[in-house]
Amino acid sequence: MAGLRKHRRSGSAHTDGPFQIRHARPTDAPAIAALERRCFSDPWSAASFREALASTWSFGLVAENKPEGEVAGYFIGRDAAGMGEVLNLAVAPEWRRQGVARALLDAGIAALAARGADEIFLEVRESNVQAQALYTSAGFRVVGQRAAYYRSPREDALVLRRDLGEEKR
Ligand SMILES: CC(C)(COP(=O)(O)OP(=O)(O)OC[C@H]1O[C@@H](n2cnc3c(N)ncnc32)[C@H](O)[C@@H]1OP(=O)(O)O)[C@@H](O)C(=O)NCCC(=O)NCCS
Repeated sequence: MAGLRKHRRSGSAHTDGPFQIRHARPTDAPAIAALERRCFSDPWSAASFREALASTWSFGLVAENKPEGEVAGYFIGRDAAGMGEVLNLAVAPEWRRQGVARALLDAGIAALAARGADEIFLEVRESNVQAQALYTSAGFRVVGQRAAYYRSPREDALVLRRDLGEEKR
């Protein structure tokens, strides 16, 4: 899939960076879960990732660094009846602010659109302003709130939506 850019503010934008995005396989679940534990206080288990990657209703993408092939970030999406969802997205702390999440999100949105999604929803912690900035810059808008949706710590979720229907028409 897509090559990524590095040092976007240094003037080298649009050159291939040291990452590659590819579809995730169930055998990627342990590496993804290890990264998940570094990124979230209430992480998914390796079994949850394995299940999501083995299901026909959901899929995953990983950004891996070259040439080592270590997982630097991942995206998990799901869709049904024209409704897509971003279930999970994270980037390793040492690889942040290099466009990895944006590239994963763009590839995930394209994959959901190709699977028939007309709209995409996601939840994000109310305090997670970094992720909110990423999503709003990618065309998502706040459409609701879920009270006490998250644990560790307990917190409300904002519900964000991006319409793909207009782009398809
Ligand atoms: C949120 C997260 C995925 C961003 O990953 P990333 O690879 O660093 O993001 P990118 O470099 O692609 O940045 C894309 C945009 O996101 C926003 N953003 C990312 N990190 C940010 C930060 N620390 N502060 C403010 N905005 C930020 C910016 O709008 C940025 O665009 P810009 O670089 O042109 O300003 C990453 O910080 C992460 O994994 N956090 C922990 C897990 C998490 O919160 N996941 C989302 C759950 S809903």
